[in-house]
Amino acid sequence: MNTDAHAARRRALFDRIGDGIAILPTAREKTRNRDTHYPYRFDSDFWYLSNFPEPDAILVLVGGTAPRTILFCREKDAERETWDGFRYGPAGAREVFGVDEAYPCGEFDTRLPDLLAGHPSLWFTLGHDAGWDARVTAALNAVRAQRRAGKQAPTVLHDLRREIEHLRRVKDTTEIGHMRRAAAITSAGHVRAMQRCRPGLPEYALEAELSHEFRVSGAAGHAYPPIVAGGAGACVLHYVNNDQTLADGSLVLIDAGCEVEGYAADITRTFPVNGRFTSAQRDVYEIVLAAQAAAIAALRPGASFIDDHDAAVRVLVRGLVDLGILQGDIDGLIEQNAYQPYYMHRTGHWLGLDVHDAGEYKDEDQWARLESGMVLTVEPGLYLRPDAAIPEALRGIGIRIEDDVLITDDGADVYTTAPKTVADIEALMRHD
Ligand code: GLY
Ligand code: MN
Ligand code: MN
Repeated sequence: MNTDAHAARRRALFDRIGDGIAILPTAREKTRNRDTHYPYRFDSDFWYLSNFPEPDAILVLVGGTAPRTILFCREKDAERETWDGFRYGPAGAREVFGVDEAYPCGEFDTRLPDLLAGHPSLWFTLGHDAGWDARVTAALNAVRAQRRAGKQAPTVLHDLRREIEHLRRVKDTTEIGHMRRAAAITSAGHVRAMQRCRPGLPEYALEAELSHEFRVSGAAGHAYPPIVAGGAGACVLHYVNNDQTLADGSLVLIDAGCEVEGYAADITRTFPVNGRFTSAQRDVYEIVLAAQAAAIAALRPGASFIDDHDAAVRVLVRGLVDLGILQGDIDGLIEQNAYQPYYMHRTGHWLGLDVHDAGEYKDEDQWARLESGMVLTVEPGLYLRPDAAIPEALRGIGIRIEDDVLITDDGADVYTTAPKTVADIEALMRHD
């Protein structure tokens, strides 16, 4: 286990908190129904700093001249481990995860007042979880009640998660390694779906091809609910039912990505169900592909987060004019947002532990400047819902093309690889 990367992230946070103390609980287990739980997923911020996978864990970073990291976690329990599986226990966790001290989670409430006392500031995110808010507040009050004994409670509260989110915006090499692996597995999943696609299959059969590739390759599973949308279903941005039949002559849009070590890939491909684009489908497809190329060309360190969106919109608007859907001058149409009925989302988002990853998009009131190590998606689309404003041959065509991009020292690395040119898709899908 690479504990160095996590220790380095904690050091970066210690630099920010100074003499303060930070408290970060992981996610809770969630009941699905009766005795069944949703598959457990740790809290992303907690995982980023600890790599510790179990529920009921809390990280406490005690700042000062000799900073120390404390983990509270479940105790070893032979009976519970028989039912639910292995637990590290405090001693095991200390050894494996490189924290300075570890205690049973049941001791958190009694130990916290002493830990808080004497620190000028507390770093904790109020409002994230009411249960934790109450426990931390109770500990603060316990210190305040000991004022006559000379104890001092923190007087300043900082939003801890906002600080961690800021760190998470630039990925380290360990993170980039996980993201490249997630991207490789996801790319293979999209290839498999293209190869197995046939008219008459249900959408969920392609979802199953992706799930198969993800799990057989060692990914944890899907990083977000996959979209497999045939025909006009592709114009519904968050379509997830995946239960319709894939029709001959239509397109299918797949937006799916796996999760590796907590990190997401996020790829969209749109391709013909029968393996051959019609000329109308190809016309729209080439516009979206050109918009994506223009957006990617705008990505480099120092560029603004919005530059690639603006580049994509310009190509999409010119395309909408060429298709006869919009009329007028390009700048005027962009100014009036005339494209928004057909392109209603932004061209990308940060990517990392969360598919829509942590991190501000504006610093002060300026769009964020791209830096080496940032990762974002580039995902332009056109959604031509079946309505009278659209030429008949184009009605119901929905296309998005999405790749994942790492900003490098001198440009951008598109590290997702599933085929996306018309020629490459048709060659891959040829069934001779
Ligand atoms: N898969 C979610 C997105 O593309 O934003
Ligand atoms: Mn995306
Ligand atoms: Mn996506």
